[in-house]
Amino acid sequence: MDSIKEYLDKNKDRFLDELVDLLKIPSISADPAYKGDMLKAADAVKARLLEAGCDNAEVSPTPGHPVVYAEKIIDKNLPTVLVYGHYDVQPPDPLDLWDSPPFEPVIKETKIHPEGAIFARGSCDDKGQMYMHVKAMEYMTQNDELPCNVKFMIEGEEEVGSEHLDWWIKENKEKLQNDVILISDTGMISKDTPSITTGLRGLSYVEVEVTGANRDLHSGLYGGAVANPLNILSQMIAQLTDENNHITIPGFYDNVENLSDEERAKMAEAPFSLEEYKEKLDIKDVHGEKGYSTLERGSIRPTLDVNGMWGGYIGEGAKTVLPSKAYAKISMRLVPDQDWKEITELFKKHFESLAPDSVKVEVKPHHGGYPYVTPIDTIGYQAASAAYEETFGKTPIPQRSGGSIPIVSLFEKELKSKIILMGFGLDTDAIHSPNEHFGIWNYLKGIETIPWFYKHFTEMSKK
Ligand code: BES
Ligand code: MN
Ligand code: MN
Repeated sequence: MDSIKEYLDKNKDRFLDELVDLLKIPSISADPAYKGDMLKAADAVKARLLEAGCDNAEVSPTPGHPVVYAEKIIDKNLPTVLVYGHYDVQPPDPLDLWDSPPFEPVIKETKIHPEGAIFARGSCDDKGQMYMHVKAMEYMTQNDELPCNVKFMIEGEEEVGSEHLDWWIKENKEKLQNDVILISDTGMISKDTPSITTGLRGLSYVEVEVTGANRDLHSGLYGGAVANPLNILSQMIAQLTDENNHITIPGFYDNVENLSDEERAKMAEAPFSLEEYKEKLDIKDVHGEKGYSTLERGSIRPTLDVNGMWGGYIGEGAKTVLPSKAYAKISMRLVPDQDWKEITELFKKHFESLAPDSVKVEVKPHHGGYPYVTPIDTIGYQAASAAYEETFGKTPIPQRSGGSIPIVSLFEKELKSKIILMGFGLDTDAIHSPNEHFGIWNYLKGIETIPWFYKHFTEMSKK
């Protein structure tokens, strides 16, 4: 029998090769053209889970992309860990900004990853992090180290809002029963400062359409006399925040939970260098809501951002035109206790009220999700903390993240479980961006840490 460290030494090349194979499949959930690759990725995950020691595995259809479910039940009286992850990835655009093709993984060294990092779409978010759990499972079953029952639920619609998961979870409630849910789809502070994510923001995502005249117009003949939807849209968007970068939608902050001075002071203790932050992003200054620190702006405060804006002529050279239509995609990141459905309504009402009579406005809600915050005085958190102590020799820092995983609050509501977010990515790994990568060190450290979670969780549950 090998220790996890010995097992990693013997198998790490294969663990890397297998991840590379999975990363070659362009499982882009947003684009219907990749439906076949989505199925291919789901089948591959199922096959790897069976090889890793699961007894049952299935590719379970949904009206969208399928969910891969697998389990190994060793004793009904032992606790059950449910592992969640996602096999879908973000679209890789803009392609020309990638140094190597997004679905042809390459290993390169970087300043932060001198051991090398795998560059590919999905390497960190979330195939690489999800696959750590598959390999940890392999280790445990091969070395007689699996102390409890395990279930895996690996979905294919996370990057498009987990639209059908609500339905799927309700359909499979019995099957999903568990004592804790374990997820690696977030990050940690740095390689020498481990952290556990204790909060995620919610989300409301909308698309807006502003229509002026019934056709594109000559900007000389009509310019100045007829509304230009792109100008109007820009003005409307500019009014959504004030000079303090507060969001101006009436009622937007009504349910925002305000942290106590004590909680804020605790947050400020987390290691963070504003200078380094700016340097890494190549910006002279940061930007955000007055009265809050950069860490707070990115985690405990809500936001409103334009994700994309288009209309009119964007081809080569110049075309003199007043566009008939202008569009924008807008996201609002939400915090406890904001309700994304309510916020979407507030946005719609306010945005429509901002439109002058010279244009028509349509607000189309896309998707959303609830925020999540988890306490740290649970067995799940304590077991995770103990696991990091084993492999990092340090107590991890609890930290709320700014990202969203809509399924997490749904899990809590439907399955009444606590969710433990053990992320091993770094903010600099460029998830959703060109040149996404995942450090080999982080990948192996994740595989090393996960079995300790199972061990401590099972032991702590017996007491
Ligand atoms: N894994 C991310 C979320 C994340 C990343 C949380 C890093 C914390 C730290 C996830 O895949 C993601 O990108 N979620 C989307 C939400 C979804 C509804 C499209 C997001 O946050 O934009
Ligand atoms: Mn993810
Ligand atoms: Mn993502």
